[in-house]
Amino acid sequence: SRVLVLNGVNLGRLGARQPDVYGVVTFAELAELCRRTGAQLGLEVEVRQTDDEPELIGWLHAAADARTPVVLNPAAWSHYSYALRDACALLTAPLVEVHISNIHAREEFRRHSVISAVATGVVAGLGVDGYVLALRHLAQRLSSPA
Ligand code: DQA
Repeated sequence: SRVLVLNGVNLGRLGARQPDVYGVVTFAELAELCRRTGAQLGLEVEVRQTDDEPELIGWLHAAADARTPVVLNPAAWSHYSYALRDACALLTAPLVEVHISNIHAREEFRRHSVISAVATGVVAGLGVDGYVLALRHLAQRLSSPA
């Protein structure tokens, strides 16, 4: 089955962006890791990134219409975008929220995600491995729905 891996604002800068916090893996490498992981799991993984919030919301509307499972790193929008949260609430297939860093161990404003309450589950602080784990979970969940 098809799975979307969607990434929000500034994540295209991975590798160069605060490597002490987000690691040295580039966005291109992350995308390749997700596609390779998907192929091993029998998932058709499509990876996207945008710095444009309305574009991300459009992708989520299409995912809702197609009942596509989503792995989402909402980046800074996690912390304040009710518009993004409402778009996530439209999804009917599972939604896994991923954060590369441990948002609970950082600045106060990062500790709350407005997305989490409408996500199926959340992975934070495990680096890019969080995406791999999210995809593994979806593959298992889609083959034997709870
Ligand atoms: C992030 C954490 C957010 O607080 C931050 O704004 C990001 C990335 C993460 O993956 O750790 O851009 O979502």
